[in-house]
Amino acid sequence: MTRVTLIKGDGIGPEISESVVKIIEKSGADIDWDIQTAGLDVIEKEGVPLPQRVIDSIKANKVALKAPITTPIGKGFRSVNVQLRKELNLFANIRPCKNIPTVKTRFDNVDLVVVRENTEDLYAGVEEKIDENTAHSIKIITREASTRIAKYAFEYALKYGRKEVCVVTKANICKLSDGLFLDCAREVSKQYPQIKFREILVDNCCMQLVQNPSQFDVLVLPNLYGDIVSDLTAGLIGGLGVAKSANIGEDCAVFEAVHGSAPDIKGQDKANPMALLLSGVEMLKHIGQTVQAEKIEKALYKTLESGIKTADIGGSAKCSEFTQAIIDNM
Ligand code: NAI
Repeated sequence: MTRVTLIKGDGIGPEISESVVKIIEKSGADIDWDIQTAGLDVIEKEGVPLPQRVIDSIKANKVALKAPITTPIGKGFRSVNVQLRKELNLFANIRPCKNIPTVKTRFDNVDLVVVRENTEDLYAGVEEKIDENTAHSIKIITREASTRIAKYAFEYALKYGRKEVCVVTKANICKLSDGLFLDCAREVSKQYPQIKFREILVDNCCMQLVQNPSQFDVLVLPNLYGDIVSDLTAGLIGGLGVAKSANIGEDCAVFEAVHGSAPDIKGQDKANPMALLLSGVEMLKHIGQTVQAEKIEKALYKTLESGIKTADIGGSAKCSEFTQAIIDNM
């Protein structure tokens, strides 16, 4: 039995976690859930949104499945998600984007992977109010983290038989910071002559992605561009309701959906649990429970093929109905 930290999150988090846990349990996966809470509700009881017990649990179990957690916009506490990535040194955020059978989109040949640096850049949270009318935010890029993520992208390409790694920056403007990120990727690329290396500016990359996404294979980006571009790539395959991700570190891995807590549909049984479910499937593969992972994937695709889908991807099923259909198909 594998002990896995489960963070049910807030907003749509509890609904989709309930769905995913039910499906994973039905698959026969051998998991002992170590349930931990974090976020706004926890502050009232424990004074902080990310208590040490959550970090300790993930450090001990080495693997977690995490639902989204709300971050107050423009004020309030620092993102729990960012803190978690930083505390556990989850330096690589992997966001694969591949068309899903039966989910119709503008393109039918998308198969790319966003590899996002996960620990620095503007996410370092170094901000200062200079005066009433001026604020500064510091973009931190280091050689160590940039080299580490570039290496990860190339190793990922090798492992999964990918042909190209494309580094995405704005090094024409941020010459020192993005320039350093780009230099590190160039340097690392020399160690992988079997993988094609490409460079692109982030603005052009966005345009190319919405016109001709199939030209891209593995993209490696600093934190902020990685965040934005991966929401864009989620849109290419059906939206945030289907986009999975993994945060990988030297010692631990935290699997979560790309999307946030979707307060606009909270508590309405409308949310698509697929993004968290597919992240859970990756988690099962990560801990070696591949038979159960494949069983879930098969049941999920069978359900989609039968026309049962949530509203965000063109269906009319509620989250609970979609969940039950997957369970029945297993
Ligand atoms: P969001 O990703 O929560 O929602 C954007 C849009 O996508 C909304 O219209 C929402 O209804 C829809 N959507 C998202 N997930 C869906 C699903 N599973 N099924 C159907 N529709 C779905 O982004 P938003 O509104 O910008 O952020 C809300 C909160 O989430 C913020 O506090 C933000 O900081 C937080 N957040 C947390 C993340 C995490 O926990 N890793 C990641 C991104 C945002």
